[in-house]
Amino acid sequence: MGRCTRVPGAQPACVSGPLLPAANVREQGGLIWVSRAGPLPVVEPASPQAGPNPLDVFFITDAARCSLPEAAENFLDAFHTHFVHAGWIRNDHKRQKIRAKVEALPDGIQACYTEEGQQSGWISRLFEKERGWSYGRFRMPGLAEIEYRDRQGRINLLISAWLTPSQNGHIHIHARIASRRDWLPRFLKEIILRRVFRVILNQDKRILELTTANVERFKAAGVSAPPAKLLHSPLDLLGPHIRSLLAGEPLPALPDTEIEVHL
Ligand SMILES: [Fe+2]
Repeated sequence: MGRCTRVPGAQPACVSGPLLPAANVREQGGLIWVSRAGPLPVVEPASPQAGPNPLDVFFITDAARCSLPEAAENFLDAFHTHFVHAGWIRNDHKRQKIRAKVEALPDGIQACYTEEGQQSGWISRLFEKERGWSYGRFRMPGLAEIEYRDRQGRINLLISAWLTPSQNGHIHIHARIASRRDWLPRFLKEIILRRVFRVILNQDKRILELTTANVERFKAAGVSAPPAKLLHSPLDLLGPHIRSLLAGEPLPALPDTEIEVHL
């Protein structure tokens, strides 16, 4: 139980009773997890991907007015970066043919992209040379991860975002930004990356909140949305699976083959 031990000028007897109920907590992945539903869940919270090389880490937090599937799909959809983050991450007029494969995880789904090479966005040019492969990964109940590796398998950048439904239709975003430890002093890299990711996050928030407003406008007009499957294109590699996982539905059998995409 939480207990107030001292109030200046007051008698200790007045303030020594239990004041707050105890909460079950667990420390994992650099975060404190609190269970508000009684005992701690048997299943441990999803942790960030373990890196084979030392990483410099910091956290950023924010919130967006949207649903959990929309936030996760937006975060992990590689094809929105050409428009929402044009120039920062990718450019629509500088696409390249790469290979992608979607794989089921014990608690989620991931897309693996290979043959990416040199990226056109200036963030990648600053922090990567040639990219070997990358992943977009969703793990239940709400961890969305993007992982960039070089051709030797070392992680250059790993972004792990825990997405939690919050009040008034908002999603709370708690993101762990991990970058490869190199010659650049950690404090300087953090200053640069914090500014860069604030811009990127604001771009995503804007498109997510526009989408939410659009859905609400249709609902207010009495127009129900068509079935979600009709809204997905073959390039939505993870979105339909994220929605199935969050709805508690089984994933379909996934082909053991790569597809070619223009990313
Ligand atoms: Fe984005």
